Amino acid sequence: MNTQYSTVSTGNREQLPTLKVVNRHCKAEIALFGAHLLSFIPNSDGKERLWLSDTAIFDKSKPIRGGVPICWPWFGGIYPDFATNQVSELPAHGFVRTQDWRVIGIEETPESTVITLSPTQLGLFGFSDNLLTYVEVTFSEKCSIKLITKNKSEQPVKITAALHTYFNVTDIHHTKILGVEGRYIDKTRESGIFEQPLPYLISSETDRIHLQDEDNLFEFIQVNSQHDKISIEQHGHDSVVIWNPWQEKSKSMADMQENGYLDMLCIEASITQGTVLAAQERHELVQIIG
Ligand code: BG6
Repeated sequence: MNTQYSTVSTGNREQLPTLKVVNRHCKAEIALFGAHLLSFIPNSDGKERLWLSDTAIFDKSKPIRGGVPICWPWFGGIYPDFATNQVSELPAHGFVRTQDWRVIGIEETPESTVITLSPTQLGLFGFSDNLLTYVEVTFSEKCSIKLITKNKSEQPVKITAALHTYFNVTDIHHTKILGVEGRYIDKTRESGIFEQPLPYLISSETDRIHLQDEDNLFEFIQVNSQHDKISIEQHGHDSVVIWNPWQEKSKSMADMQENGYLDMLCIEASITQGTVLAAQERHELVQIIG
C-alpha cells in the first residue's frame, strides 16, 4: 500500500487491526473496529489532538474510550420513532461503533490521504438495510471526518448521530471553549435549560446539548488549554454536545482512569434533534480537526 505520497500500513492496538497513515502533513491511526480514529498528529506542531483512555478496552466487548467514536443511526440511549412517537431503549450511541468496518477506498494525492470505510452489518434494530453509511477520513494538515448517510430506501428515515470526539487538553481546569454559547440542555440537571456563562470553562461533571439556532451555528469552535490550541469546524449538525464525566463518574467507569477526566474534553458534532432523509437522499455530518 505504499505510494510516493504517503504510507498506509496495517497495525494493531492490542487485538484490534488498525491502519496507520503517514504523509507529509500528519501521522494518524484508525481502528477498523468502529471506523474509530485513534490518533491524529499534524506535523505542523507534532501534538496529538485526540485523547485515548489509558485503560481503553480493545477486545470488542465495548466501544473504544477515546478517539472519535461514530454514533449512528441514533445518538444516546433511545431512538424516537418519529412516525409513531414511540421511543425505544437501545444500546447507547447506535450499532456501528461496536462492529468491524471494511476499508472500501484509499486515495492518495500530494495534498492528502483519504480513507473510506463502511460497516459490515446494516439493517440492525429494525433499521432498513437500505439505510447506508460510510466514514470518509481525510488526513492532511487538518483531519476531516465525514459521516455519510444514504437513504437508498423508498421511505423517509429520520436519524440522530454524532462524531463523539475526545480531544486532548493540557489541563481541564485551564481549558476554555470559544464559539459555543447561549442556552443548553443540561443532562446532569434533569435536562433543564440554562444559559452558558462566558468564558466557557469546565469545572464539574458536564453533559450538555447546545442546540443550533440562527445566532449559534457552532460551525467554528476553538479549544484553548494552556499551550494547546485545537480548532474545530463542523457541518451537517443540529447541535454540539460537550461532555466531561469529571472525577466520580470516571472512577465508576472501567475504561477510564480516576484522573482521566483531567486531560480530555468531548466536543461532539451531533444530530440530537434528528434529520429526515427523504428517499434516495444523502446527508453528511462533518468535523474538521486542526
Ligand atoms: C455523551 C452523552 O455524548 O456520551 C453522555 O451525552 C454519555 O450522556 C457520554 O455519558 C459517553 O457515552 P458512552 O456510551 O460512550 O459511555
